[in-house]
Amino acid sequence: MPEIQRTLSIVKPDATAKGAAGEILRRFEVAGLRVIALKMVRLTEAQAKGFYAVHKSRPFFADLVRFMTSGPVVMSVLEGPDAIAKNRELMGPTDSTKAAPGTIRGDFGTDIERNAVHGSDAPETARAEIAYFFSAFEILAPVEALPA
Ligand code: CMP
Repeated sequence: MPEIQRTLSIVKPDATAKGAAGEILRRFEVAGLRVIALKMVRLTEAQAKGFYAVHKSRPFFADLVRFMTSGPVVMSVLEGPDAIAKNRELMGPTDSTKAAPGTIRGDFGTDIERNAVHGSDAPETARAEIAYFFSAFEILAPVEALPA
């Protein structure tokens, strides 16, 4: 039985600039991932640095922060069976030049940095990343808890 999981998705500034946010959210929904929280924001430098803190000693960190703050991002919490792996399958590999057509990065990414989307890579990081950007009040209750 697949586990019902949550994952954080970010449509990055390269993809929002292309007007691809709607199409990317549609792909999540068609694949059976439910959008249970959603917002469009422009990240501050401090927010981007904090979010990518694990990469702070990497040579690409400054560029990554500059890119992630260069325009609006669309952040969502996705829920569904094996949501973390499903989202990673829809995204394709980190390096867009290696991503197959039909994947989000293959269709909308440019290279390893400008790769259209971010998705959590494991349950522990998903929990931390969701909590970094969304309060509990911004996330919908499970369907079975909603009034009919
Ligand atoms: P993401 O999944 O958001 O996680 C970290 C991000 O850093 C990654 O997508 C890319 O945008 C970027 N990144 C990872 N590796 C490199 C690299 N070697 N050079 C430039 N950017 C990178």
